[in-house]
This record gives sequence, structure tokens and C-alpha cells, in this order.
Amino acid sequence: MSPDPISDPLAESPAVAGSGTSSAKASAAPVPPVTSAVTSTVTSTAIPTTMRASIARTYGTAEVMTVGEVPVPEPGEEQLLIRVEASSLNALDWHFLTGTPYLVRLIAGLRKPKQVVLGADMAGIVVAKGSKVSGIEIGDRVFGESGTRGGFGPYALIRDKNVATIPDGVSFEAAGASGVAALTAIQALRTKGGVKAGDRVLINGAAGGVGTFAVQMAKALGARVVAVCSTRNVEMVKALGADEVIDYTTDDFVAAGHLFDVMIDNLGNRSAKECLSILDPGGRYVAVSGPKDNRWVGPMLKQVGVRLAFMRAKPSFESIMAEPDVDDLNFIGELLADGRVVPAIQRVVDLDGVQEAMAEIGTGHVRSKIVVIPK
Ligand SMILES: NC(=O)c1ccc[n+]([C@@H]2O[C@H](COP(=O)([O-])OP(=O)(O)OC[C@H]3O[C@@H](n4cnc5c(N)ncnc54)[C@H](OP(=O)(O)O)[C@@H]3O)[C@@H](O)[C@H]2O)c1
Repeated sequence: MSPDPISDPLAESPAVAGSGTSSAKASAAPVPPVTSAVTSTVTSTAIPTTMRASIARTYGTAEVMTVGEVPVPEPGEEQLLIRVEASSLNALDWHFLTGTPYLVRLIAGLRKPKQVVLGADMAGIVVAKGSKVSGIEIGDRVFGESGTRGGFGPYALIRDKNVATIPDGVSFEAAGASGVAALTAIQALRTKGGVKAGDRVLINGAAGGVGTFAVQMAKALGARVVAVCSTRNVEMVKALGADEVIDYTTDDFVAAGHLFDVMIDNLGNRSAKECLSILDPGGRYVAVSGPKDNRWVGPMLKQVGVRLAFMRAKPSFESIMAEPDVDDLNFIGELLADGRVVPAIQRVVDLDGVQEAMAEIGTGHVRSKIVVIPK
């Protein structure tokens, strides 16, 4: 995910007041509403100056997370301020929390995080907008992925081109779960994988955020789907529509004897030779992730090696860096609205539950999506 190229208004923002650990209840006094004085901004409703949010002021694991008061950000010319009704956690948030691989710190802050409120996904109501925003009105229900993060707080900024309208009938929870993971899944399948009806698609890592969307989206595109997950998730992945589920704790998808048109790899835990052996000569390998043991560059080193191996072979190699894209978000909205995709949500947490949920993300074995209602 690329950072929002616009300035990061929460960067280095001073604390207004801390309130202990994430299990602490809100301790701040009610904040009197004020109206933004920024001339580039059009506001409709009174917006508080500070808010209670899930924050991390230093890099570390979930223990460094707390709940505290921070300023409500003000939108730049091409930004929206939204009242966040729902967000959700992603592996991406873990990278920004830990500042690993270290490459992430070039964006997020070298010594400490510039943005203290994490949460790239957001769905909510537009409450203020910059002077150059057109086509989006205050009061609109929108969802998307914000490069500046902030979804784990009740107000957050997002660039106008990073959102789409939430279709009627789609809940904030469903839309809030459908940011990074849904965008990654659809871009891996459609943009990079070129998946079309009748294709045989393998999804390695089918039980997490990206995987649970990818299984449903591949079915929506008319593919035949083989999905790989562990025993405890087999029934869930079947229920999402996978035609066949391979339990990696007892069976090996490489040895299963299938040939695929597209392999969506959310793990990168097999060799290039093994992946080539299960791909049709006209097939495509889509690298979504890879081993994370290199603390400097993460999966990139292994992906270079795999790419080189594919250069001498027929199936093609694609890697993805998912981006917010309005057309893709609109398509995701359509899939949500007509029920072809129903986000798999294992639980919903409030701000006090974000720390524990983030620890779960850090295990690498989180099931489906955890939604955050930032109250
Ligand atoms: N390139 C991009 O733009 C982009 C965007 C988003 C995410 N990503 C990356 O893509 C990966 C997936 O993201 P995510 O959001 O889906 O992560 P996630 O929600 O944390 O999911 C991780 C899933 O991986 C599964 N898993 C772990 N070991 C496995 C194995 N050996 N075989 C099969 N499945 C296994 C786990 O299922 P079990 O419990 O069943 O093992 C878990 O459900 C992450 O590494 C993330 O950083 C990349």
C-alpha cells in the first residue's frame, strides 16, 4: 500500500492526554464541539477538536498500543474528514505498528511513527472536505483505504480519490472490513491474475483477510477455486464457496496433482520450482506476500529470486502492491451490495479491544477479519 502523498496532518501531533492501556475506559472529559476554522475546508456539522483513539507512539508489538486523546485532524485541499463508523485490522497495520520491515520506516517515520493512529481501512460519513474535493458531499457514506491511516479513531482523513460510495443496503461494518484486504484480493485476481470464468485458481493462505475475500471474489469471477488453510478453518473456507479445500497441516497442495491457471500466493512459503510445477504453461503466479524473516526488506528478497526463476519459464510472474482505486472500490461495493461477497468477520471490537486484536494479527494466523468500531 502506498502512502497518501498528501501531507500527514497527524504527523508528530502532540498528545492531548493519555488514558492508560487499551483496556482502560475513556477517561477524558467530553470535548466541546467547535467548527473548523480552516478556510480550505467545508464543514457541515460541529466537530470536536480532540478524540479518543487507539494509538501507538513508538514502534513495537501490540503492548505499545494504548487508548488516548489526540487532535481531530483537519482535511487538506483534496482530503475528506470522515466520521469513522467502522474500520478493520490488516497485516499492513502490524507492519506500521512494528516498523518492520525497516523499509516501512521510510514512509512511517524513521525513529518513531509519524502517525500515531493506525487503521488503513475506513467506512463512515463525510463530515468535512477540502476545497478541491468535488463529487463527494458532506453526509455521503463512503469507504476506502487511507494511506495516512487513522481508522482506529472516530475521525480520520482520507484522500478523495481513495473512496467510493457505500451502496444502499451495505452496512458500515461490511464496508469497513473491505478496504486493504478486499482491494488486494480483487487486484491480485483481476488486475494481476487476469482471472476469467472457467479459470482454475489456487489461493494459498485462504483463511485470512485477503484469502477470505479472494475465495469469494474468484468464485464471483467464475473461477474454480482450490483453497489452502489449516484444519480449524477448513469449514469456514468451504462455506465461502471454495470448490476444494486443502488442509496444509495434513496435505500438500503441490503434491495434490492439480494444474492451475492462476496461483494467488498470500504466503510465499514454497519454492519457485514447486509453484511452477502446478501452473499451466499459460498460467500466472501472483505474489501477494512472502517470508517476513528479513527485517530490512521483508518478502522482497525472496520475490526477486522467484521472479528470476519465472523468467526462464512459461507461466508468468506478477507481484502486487495493492493501491486504493475508485473503480475497484466501486466493484467491491457492487459485490457487497448483491451479496456475491459477504465479508467474513470473526468479531467486532471497540477501541479497547484493538490492542488484543492487533496481537492476534501478529501471530500470522488470524481468522478472517476483525472489525473495529472506534467508540
Ligand atoms: N502486496 C500487497 O499489497 C499486500 C496487501 C495486503 C496484504 N499483504 C500481505 O499478504 C499476506 C496476507 O494478508 P492477510 O491480510 O490475509 O493476512 P492475515 O489476515 O494475517 O492472514 C494470515 C492467514 O494466513 C494463513 N496461514 C498462515 N500460515 C499458512 C500456511 N502455511 N499455509 C496457508 N495459510 C497459512 C492463516 O491461516 P491458518 O490459521 O489457517 O494458518 C491466516 O488466516 C500478509 O503477509 C500481508 O502482509 C500484501
